[in-house]
Amino acid sequence: MRTRLTEILGIRYPIVQASMAWITDAVLAAAVSEAGGLGTIGPNAGCTTVTTDVGETGERLRAQIRKCKELTDKPFAVNFVVGVVGWDRDYADRCMDVGLEEGVPVAVVSQGSPAVYTSRLKEAGVKVIHVGSTVRHAQKAEQSGVDAVIMSGTEGGGHSGFDQMTTLCLVPQAVDAVEIPVIAGGGIMDSRGLLAALALGAEGVYMGTRFMATEECPTHPKVKQALLEAMDTSTMAVRHGVPAAPNEAGKSDPGFVEQRRGSVRLLLNDFARKIIAQQGGNVSFEQVIATTGSQGENPESNRTVAAFVDGHLESNTITASQASGLIHDVPTCQRLIDRVIAEAKPILERLSHSYSS
Ligand SMILES: Cc1cc2nc3c(=O)[nH]c(=O)nc-3n(C[C@H](O)[C@H](O)[C@H](O)COP(=O)(O)O)c2cc1C
Repeated sequence: MRTRLTEILGIRYPIVQASMAWITDAVLAAAVSEAGGLGTIGPNAGCTTVTTDVGETGERLRAQIRKCKELTDKPFAVNFVVGVVGWDRDYADRCMDVGLEEGVPVAVVSQGSPAVYTSRLKEAGVKVIHVGSTVRHAQKAEQSGVDAVIMSGTEGGGHSGFDQMTTLCLVPQAVDAVEIPVIAGGGIMDSRGLLAALALGAEGVYMGTRFMATEECPTHPKVKQALLEAMDTSTMAVRHGVPAAPNEAGKSDPGFVEQRRGSVRLLLNDFARKIIAQQGGNVSFEQVIATTGSQGENPESNRTVAAFVDGHLESNTITASQASGLIHDVPTCQRLIDRVIAEAKPILERLSHSYSS
């Protein structure tokens, strides 16, 4: 299957495995790339403990990049999180230095301005894909000189943008607004999602949650089981805001979180339901974080490690796609990608038959 994206990246299928912090390591990324897609190494890849040491963060990433190169000679990506207001840029800068030193083929740059790293990456010959969630993000990324842009709809797992644009509405508007290839992310699980994205004008898909439920993904089996049990109504987006700078009285503006319409999509396990009920149904991600905590048996953990790596879902929440109800098995990456491609063909034939009759 060929699109401009497959040509630019030198990959067989226009399927990009999305970055998911802690659980998208070299093994997963290499498996996706070997299967013909583009694997992506995410933040804290291959780690089970938290470090606040900037140097160690960089060396952990270096080890993962080298491991991925040992496992595949195909292109793969590394996700660099630029960071928004209040974010400590030192980590991002160090990871960028390491990525360039190690000669990563593709960079997926997210959660921040494309102006920060694009020119450095392009000068080094790295293909750059920027992640955004509005048409304005796509235009800014194009102006910065990126090769392609991921438009990530609010259906997706993780932080799903400040404007709640759905993939169905966001992707065609971005396709109309920019010349570079658009990759559709958020809620894509199978061949139907792939073809729908292509019909909207996208030239590839960015799939996160679906790759969580694969044999190679290092997330805990309890997380994979939770995805297998998910239904259409199993997720809920909770509001999430960047903390405001202190106002004149030295206090954060309490209205700020309300004004921003950002969200994180939670998979509704018993623990998440309990917190939401405690807050009268109107919960923010900040309240969720405040309620969850590290687990004693892994003192170097945090809430994400406790949930995704150690499987402590009884006292933690996880984030996942609104389309998680479409996950019914835990295949290898090869099987998953083969199936997405194989099942697209009969759908195309059916569509072309209905169109011509
Ligand atoms: C558990 C989890 C962790 C994520 N971590 C990151 C991350 O570290 N960086 C990032 O840019 N996006 C992150 N995302 C968002 C994904 O890269 C992607 O946009 C999203 O998963 C696509 O939607 P889908 O889950 O419906 O496929 C994360 C998503 C999930 C589900």
